[in-house]
Amino acid sequence: MDFENILIEQNDYLAKVVINRPKKLNALNKATIEELHSAFQKLNKDQSVKVILLTGSGEKAFVAGADISEFAHFSVNEGGKLAAKGQELLFDFVENLTTPVIALVNGFALGGGLELAMSCHFRIASDNARMGLPETSLGVIPGYGGTQRLPQLIGKGKAMELVMTAGMINAEEAKEYGLVNYVVPQEELIPLGEKIASKIVRNSSVAIGKAIKAINSGFVDGVDGYKSEINEFGDCFGTEDFKEGTTAFLEKRKPDFPNK
Ligand code: COA
Repeated sequence: MDFENILIEQNDYLAKVVINRPKKLNALNKATIEELHSAFQKLNKDQSVKVILLTGSGEKAFVAGADISEFAHFSVNEGGKLAAKGQELLFDFVENLTTPVIALVNGFALGGGLELAMSCHFRIASDNARMGLPETSLGVIPGYGGTQRLPQLIGKGKAMELVMTAGMINAEEAKEYGLVNYVVPQEELIPLGEKIASKIVRNSSVAIGKAIKAINSGFVDGVDGYKSEINEFGDCFGTEDFKEGTTAFLEKRKPDFPNK
């Protein structure tokens, strides 16, 4: 995979995707969104990849937002299209991948940066991280799913305050709010991501993909999450992983999942 704005490292079952525009604090321009889309699409199809870590290059930012210079002159129509296309290509796309994606928030995660972190399946932050949705300070609102995912993660009242004040919270506050699962010094961020990935990889990737679908379905309007769970649960019984997992338990050995 040949990209200009992102770096990809693949090592055994783990893929690391690094957004690499440090001079622009890794701001998401159109090209970066498109590259991330094709990278995630390929990695999700690659059976050998079991966990994806997503982070920003440099020590200052995960992603400082959508690239403001690209949309400052947009019309109403172009603004709507920008949000729709971005949500389809990246934010909804990442949320619905069946391969787990963990955001390693290594600095500023603002606007589209926080929205991208919130699209990942969960988040870990370094202790210098600062997060917020500052769009109202630019005369616009979050357009990459932020008005929906932030209240899902931290509750409506706190989300309203963060959006209205366009303020930033630090990593400890983000942990207290439930926005990130852990806070560690920056040098421990990738090692912790790798450690959690090593626990995930012991389990059935087929079951994990179905669990992601079932959990996500509860947040989709008009979809009954309990029904989705029943369907995904039932489907597991037809998988080789289920046979291996239950057989291994009864034979008192560790499972060796075929991931089928
Ligand atoms: N879009 C485009 N460029 C951005 C950017 C964004 N979202 N965020 C940062 N940059 C660029 C800056 O323009 C600057 O480029 P330059 O060196 O060519 O002038 C470079 O990244 C470094 O940013 P700078 O503002 O100088 O760093 P700082 O340490 O003084 O401030 C921030 C850091 C994150 C507080 C500040 O960059 C900022 O407020 N960024 C915008 C955040 C935002 O509103 N995001 C939501 C967008 S919808």
